[in-house]
Amino acid sequence: SAVRLLGISGSLRRGSYSTMLLRHLAARLPAEVTLQVVTLEEVPLYDADLDGANPPAGVAALKAAIAEADGLVLCSPEYNYGMPGVLKNAIDWASRPAFASPLKGKPSLVVTSSPGALGGVRAQAQVRDALAATLARPLSRPHVAIPVIGSRFRDGELVDATALEMLDGAVADLLQEVRLIRAATEAA
Ligand code: FNR
Repeated sequence: SAVRLLGISGSLRRGSYSTMLLRHLAARLPAEVTLQVVTLEEVPLYDADLDGANPPAGVAALKAAIAEADGLVLCSPEYNYGMPGVLKNAIDWASRPAFASPLKGKPSLVVTSSPGALGGVRAQAQVRDALAATLARPLSRPHVAIPVIGSRFRDGELVDATALEMLDGAVADLLQEVRLIRAATEAA
């Protein structure tokens, strides 16, 4: 049956490789799977005074999209050895109410990339840690961190065989986790 994934990019810039990776993934999924790609420009800085039943519109939209998704793909660069503030900020908004938020129990694949040699592994560790704090389910599998990201694209198309293989394997694992959770929920 149909699976709905939500892709969240950790980069706002128009030419973002992170967003390109998500768009690439969206175009090669099995027929019964959809991936909606969102960026975070409409999410203001976290303010507990604005949080609650009627949060800012961009926050409400993000939380609704997460709630409706069967699984998440977070795709992010690394900024100064960590995840970009925009992504952390979005996770913070989406994490409320604590331990009962739309992120709770959500199977989540984290993908990082970098023009450098390490593929954003340090940001990846941070994203996974923050997700664990929200009781989301970051996938238990080898990390997908793609180094030298610029060289993997040609004319906006991801053409690198290694990167393609890594991403396809990770998405397959995410879909398996979604189906496991669905089966367990239906059995309960
Ligand atoms: C970076 N970049 C970077 N890369 C990395 O591998 N480790 C790092 O610590 C940093 N730090 C960093 C800080 C800031 C403020 C910027 C703007 C950039 C480079 C970064 O990975 C590169 O710009 C990516 O291409 C950005 O991702 P998008 O926008 O292409 O998705």
